[in-house]
Order: sequence, then structure tokens, then C-alpha cells
Amino acid sequence: MGTTNGTTTPEIRVRGLAKSFGDNAVLRGVDFTAARGTSTVLLGPSGSGKTTVLRSLAVLERPDEGVVGIGDVEVDFSRLPDGKAGQREVARLRAQSGFVFQTHNLFPHRTVLENLIEGPVVAQRRPKEEVVAEARVLLEQVGLAQREDAYPFQLSGGQQQRVGIARALALKPEVVLFDEPTSALDPELVGEVLAVVRDLAEQGWTTVIVTHEIHFARKVADQALFLDGGRIVEAGPPGEVLEAPRTERARQFLRRILDPG
Ligand SMILES: Nc1ncnc2c1ncn2[C@@H]1O[C@H](COP(=O)(O)OP(=O)(O)OP(=O)(O)O)[C@@H](O)[C@H]1O
Ligand SMILES: [Mg+2]
Repeated sequence: MGTTNGTTTPEIRVRGLAKSFGDNAVLRGVDFTAARGTSTVLLGPSGSGKTTVLRSLAVLERPDEGVVGIGDVEVDFSRLPDGKAGQREVARLRAQSGFVFQTHNLFPHRTVLENLIEGPVVAQRRPKEEVVAEARVLLEQVGLAQREDAYPFQLSGGQQQRVGIARALALKPEVVLFDEPTSALDPELVGEVLAVVRDLAEQGWTTVIVTHEIHFARKVADQALFLDGGRIVEAGPPGEVLEAPRTERARQFLRRILDPG
């Protein structure tokens, strides 16, 4: 987190992000910033590119063009060096974020605790004892202190998602990215997962959350972004973007998700 000329550099910087799959231009110049410790919700119709934005931030997808900066790592994909040097830059940027998927993505044959420590021990080569101690704190935080020896199939969908969140945090990322973390859950399990996401936001984690849970977004988000056709067409405080959107497209979308019938 740097400061330049007395102004604080935003924790997340995205400029001119572009990505095509074949001739399908999915992101067409996405720009936004997010301050450290804030929560950003990203909304938009299906196919508008929300997942692709998140995956680009985490470099699970490599953008064709544009700049992604997270913390003190910044990569300009328009001029990424070939070979090892480029790969190193990408790896550094990738390590800045933790990703929580729509469905939990846990290793099915590993226990909850093993799922949490795999990344820190194997990829980050941190001492196992220390990692285990931290993993237990994280499990407590997501309300699963008693379940460290369980296998994913023995847990409810909501518990699996909470393990997925703890696993993302175990890597000590700068930012946590959530891609519709509750959309695959039975309705009665949504609340327990949103409560964990809200706790993280309140604890000062920097988060970007793709969600259609508008009431949650209103309460938790510091800024809301509305994506349409691969561009951010509205950005601002959630009270404005979610309650008084300027574009007809956003109004239409919000009406539909608030009243699906
Ligand atoms: N790996 C891929 N290969 C080819 N096309 C892809 C790939 N990933 C995404 N797309 C296409 O990119 C577009 C945007 O997809 P994306 O998943 O980012 O949308 P989204 O806003 O997350 O939608 P949803 O709300 O349905 O999750 C879609 O047209 C999709 O088919
Ligand atoms: Mg998506």
C-alpha cells in the first residue's frame, strides 16, 4: 500500500481491462479502483462479464489488455514480457488474491483442516505447525471449529462454502474475491454464508463480491459497480447505484432481481 504525493493509492486498480474468447469480446475496457478495507459489489446481467472480471483480477484468466494492480503488485497485460519474467509477474499478482468460487471447489478426499493447510504449506512453503494453528483460528471464525476432521461430503452446502472462505483466507491474500458465493445454496443456508462475508468486510478485509443479494449489498458494500456488455456502466455508493440507477439497463435488471416473479 503506497502513498504518492500525499494521496493514498487504492488497494485495487483496474484500467482498460479487455478480454475476448475467440471473437466474443467479453470485457471491453473495464476501469475501477477500490480503497483498502472496502467492499465492492459487482452486479450485472448473466453474461455481462462479472466472473471474467474476478478471474482476471486473480489471473485465473489472462486478460488480453489492461492493467491490474493489487497492493504493491501491478501488471500491465498489454506489455507483459514473454517467458519466465512474465510468468513471475503473473504469479506475484495471483498471490495477492484469495478466490471464493460459486461452488466450494474443496478437495473431496481431504479433511477440512487438510484443505485449509494445503496451499500455505505446499505452495507457500510455510511451516506446517504455524499454518495449522492459523487454520484453526480461521475455522473458529467461520463457525466450524468442531469440524476440522470432517470431509467435505459430510458438511452442508453452507458449511462447505464457509470452509471455502477459510481456505481463501489461509493464503493471507491482500484481497478476497467472491463469485456468487451463495447462488448454489439452498435458501435457508444463504444467511450463514453472507454473515461470514459481512464479518470479513467489517474486519477490514478488502473484498470484491459478485452477488445478486441486493439487500446484503446495500448493507455491506462501500461501492457498487454495474457491469453490462463488458463495461462498467454505473459506479458509486450502493445507495445510488442500487436505489437510483441512472441507466435504464440497471433499473430493468434491479427490478427483475428484486421481483423475479
Ligand atoms: N472460458 C471461456 N471460454 C469461452 N467463453 C467464455 C469463457 N468464460 C466466459 N465466457 C463467455 O464470456 C461471457 C461472460 O461470461 P462471464 O462468466 O464472465 O459472465 P457473468 O457475468 O459472470 O455471467 P453469470 O451471471 O451467468 O455468471 C459469456 O458470454 C461467456 O459465455
Ligand atoms: Mg458469473
